[in-house]
Parts: sequence; structure tokens; C-alpha cells
Amino acid sequence: MDDGLARTPPMGWNSWNKFGCRIDEKIIREMADAMVSSGMKDAGYEYLVIDDCWMAPERDADGNLQANPATFPSGIRALADYVHSKGLKFGIYSSNGTLTCQGLPASLGHEEQDARQFAEWQVDYLKYDFCYSEVATSQIDKITVAGVDYEAEAPENVLEGEANIAYCSNCSGNRFVNGIGEGKGSLLFTNVNVPKAGTYDLVVTYVHRERWNNPQAVYVSINEGEGTRLRLLNPENQRDAVHTLTVPVELQAGKNTVRFYNPYTTREITVQNYKRMSDALRATGRPIVFSICEWGTHSPWEWGPEVGHLWRTTGDITDSWASVLDILDRQVGLEVYSGPGHWNDPDMLEVGNGGMTLTEYISHFSLWCILNAPLMAGNDLRNMSDEIRAILTNREVIAINQDPLGVQGKRIRAENGLEVWAKPLSGGDRAVVLFNRTETPAEIWVTIEELEESLRPLAAAVPGAAGKTGRGVYVARDLWEHRESPIDGRVSAVVPPHGVAVFRLMKRG
Ligand code: GLA
Repeated sequence: MDDGLARTPPMGWNSWNKFGCRIDEKIIREMADAMVSSGMKDAGYEYLVIDDCWMAPERDADGNLQANPATFPSGIRALADYVHSKGLKFGIYSSNGTLTCQGLPASLGHEEQDARQFAEWQVDYLKYDFCYSEVATSQIDKITVAGVDYEAEAPENVLEGEANIAYCSNCSGNRFVNGIGEGKGSLLFTNVNVPKAGTYDLVVTYVHRERWNNPQAVYVSINEGEGTRLRLLNPENQRDAVHTLTVPVELQAGKNTVRFYNPYTTREITVQNYKRMSDALRATGRPIVFSICEWGTHSPWEWGPEVGHLWRTTGDITDSWASVLDILDRQVGLEVYSGPGHWNDPDMLEVGNGGMTLTEYISHFSLWCILNAPLMAGNDLRNMSDEIRAILTNREVIAINQDPLGVQGKRIRAENGLEVWAKPLSGGDRAVVLFNRTETPAEIWVTIEELEESLRPLAAAVPGAAGKTGRGVYVARDLWEHRESPIDGRVSAVVPPHGVAVFRLMKRG
């Protein structure tokens, strides 16, 4: 978004990767202290974000989210004040669904109220997850008007497009109509009879066939008039659950039609709902970075730039080498979508959590840096080893990530597990990561010609990114060894298994 926030990828710390739900205000305060004393803050880490599980199991009497009184007894505002007193910024978490991924209250349908609450708490960053989000397909069992039941599967109804009759043990008549919505399926009741014109209760009996079902968005239209959007919830999250929702409708005397449909796809509903929170945050007047955590489900890189400042491109990272490789491969080609104020997010860092070797953590960090990933540390900052601290606070590598041009790096070559990643930097410099995925040491190299050829489209789009070709035009600085050497037409290194060599090629004249 073009609102002055996140002009470079956000940096900070998030509670999830290390602590999951085992968080409390003491840990968060200590982490704020450690962020300063460890040198993380000086290296650029700024946002301290509490992930899932900060909230009480219920909203308060006014419908406000509240902190879990057992783990956050002083409340969120006091915690935010503490974090701010350390010169840091404060972030929090909710979900674009009825519940968070851990089953706690979330913000779907409460966007304005929750955004106001976050702003009052002085929140600077919101991570907004995707569990229990709304879908555009609904499942109708029957409707009831003036005491008369009309089964969805009745022969007089018209099923259009992908709407179809399906079996369900708990439904009346053991049948319901499935496949309503997504802009391509509708169910029309043709013969809803009432004796006289007036307002009636329309009781919609609907089904959630699967457990973990998401709320269903559906439109209802009377006599083909303008549709009203309904949200069909499954509060107990049960399989084959049958529930009712009652809506007042205007009917005419005699025959009426009632149509269920959804002109939108789930993707469109998803964008609308993320946008609703985005607008609600903006309406508070407080600058709040909006982190879209939609797991790359509906290509968020295509709509994310208008909605938030960053978007997750994949499912969750785990503290394993396989996860780093899997996520890395899914970033290829996404570089064109990223830039100042709108970043691809390959998920938070696992550096220091114990599941990888130091070499692998150096690679994970270096690759996330060249991807312009948000750098959200996820380890326990209170007791980092010197080696881990040195990785997370390597300013020269961070500078690749935080370069003001904001051009995301790309994979320019991948051959037999040996890869070259590169990105244009301001002033015409280049960042290069030579990456060895194999189990044996290998020499990896790239010529300036190949580098410039591969980066040309990315560099051409940004003023100040032009490079140079020819011999002797760059000096290479090794950003892990911290030393410089002249190069003659190509940069190369012998790279250990699972390791990287990272260079800044500095333009000469
Ligand atoms: C999802 C997100 C994670 C984390 C958890 C919390 O899985 O993708 O990053 O926020 O929910 O429950």
C-alpha cells in the first residue's frame, strides 16, 4: 500500500515459531528487553508481534476482544506501552474468520470494532490470519415460511449450474442442495405461498457437511429482487451440523420465489473480507502495518498490494531444512509482485530454533534477505548463542534486504542443486547468493554478463537500478566473510553443502 508504511520489508520478532500458544505478558516484556539488549533493535528489528492466543476465549459484554486474563492480566494497552517505552513498535494478531487458528475469537464480522480496539491499544502492526474464513459455497436443507416447510430437494425447485442434491444423515428428508454459489450455482424455490402480503420470517435451515467448516456466504433474493447477503455459521464446528438462520423478508400474497445464490467466488469473498479489515484499520487514522496471512491460497500477490503491506505466499514454515527448500521454490517468479509498501512474505524466520545447522540457518537467513522477505525473528531472544545473534544481526546481509530500491531478488540459475540468486541494489550494486543444495562442496559461479542479462527486466523497471557489463566493473564484497576482492568478469566461490556465499557487487564508477 502506498501510505508510507513498510517502505522496506518490516523487521521484528513474532511469538509463534518459538512459543506457539505458550505466551504471556512476562515473556513478551522480556522479549522487548532482549530485543534491545541483544542488539537486534540496533540492527533494525522494530516490530514486536504477539501471535495467536493472546485473547480470552470470549469477547466482553460489549463484544470487544479482550486479553486472556490469566496470561495477560495487565491488558494489551499496558503491554503496548511497555513495548513502546523500549523504542519498539507493537503488533498483534487476529483472523479473517470466525475463530483464530487456535479456536479463539477472531474478527470476521467485527472488523470495525476490532480495528478501533487495536488502534486504542496503540497497535502498530496487525497479522491477519485465514482460519475459519468465509467461503462462497453454501448448503441448504430447507426453508420454512409461515409454518410450512419447503425442502431444498423438492422437485418443483429449480437447480441451476453446479447446484445438486446430496445426501446428509441429519437433514430433513436426508437430502440437501449443495454447490450453491461461486457465481455458478443457484437454488430457486418456486412456490412459497402466503395468504397475504407482508413481512415474514424466512427460516433457512442449512448444513455444514464437514467439520472445520468455514462460514458460508450466500445471497437470498425474493421474487428476483435485490439479494441480501447472509453468513451461515457453524458455531460448534461439528460435522454434518444442521442450523437455522431467520431473516425477515417481504412477501406478496400467493406465490413467491426465493433464490439462493452467490455472485462471487470464494476468492472474491476473501479479498472483500481482507479489504474490510484494511479499510477499518485505515479509518482509525492510526498507521498500522497490515500483514495478510492467507497462506498464498488465492494468489494474494495479485490483490495484496491494494489491501495490505505484506502477504504470506505459502503455508506455515517449520524449523526444518525441507521446509526452507519447499518455501524457497514457491517464491520463484513472485519477485515481480513485490516492492516498497507491498511485500511477498515467505513466512517468519526459524533461525535459532534448533532444527537446522548453523550453515542451514545462514542459508535460510541469506535467502530470505535476497527475497526481500519481512524479517520476523522467531527464536528466544533472551538466550541466543553468539553464532545465532551474529546471523540475525549481520548488517551487511540485512542491508541487502533493506535496500531502498526494494527490488526482490530472483533465481537466475538452478542446475543440479546449485543455484544463483541475485537482485539489483541502489546505486547499481548487485547482491548475489550462490547456494549449494547438494550434499557435497561445490564451486558455483556467475559471470557479470549472465547476471546483468538476467536482472535486466527487474532493474529496468526501477530508476537507479541500472548495472554495468564488461570486465572489472564490480568489486565483490563477501558479506559473511566481510572482505572485498576485485573480480574479473565473474564471481565464484566454493560453497559447502546446504550453504551459501553472499556477495555485494559494488559498482566502480
Ligand atoms: C496459522 C498461521 C501461523 C500462526 C498460526 C497461529 O497457522 O499461518 O503463522 O499465526 O496460525 O495459530
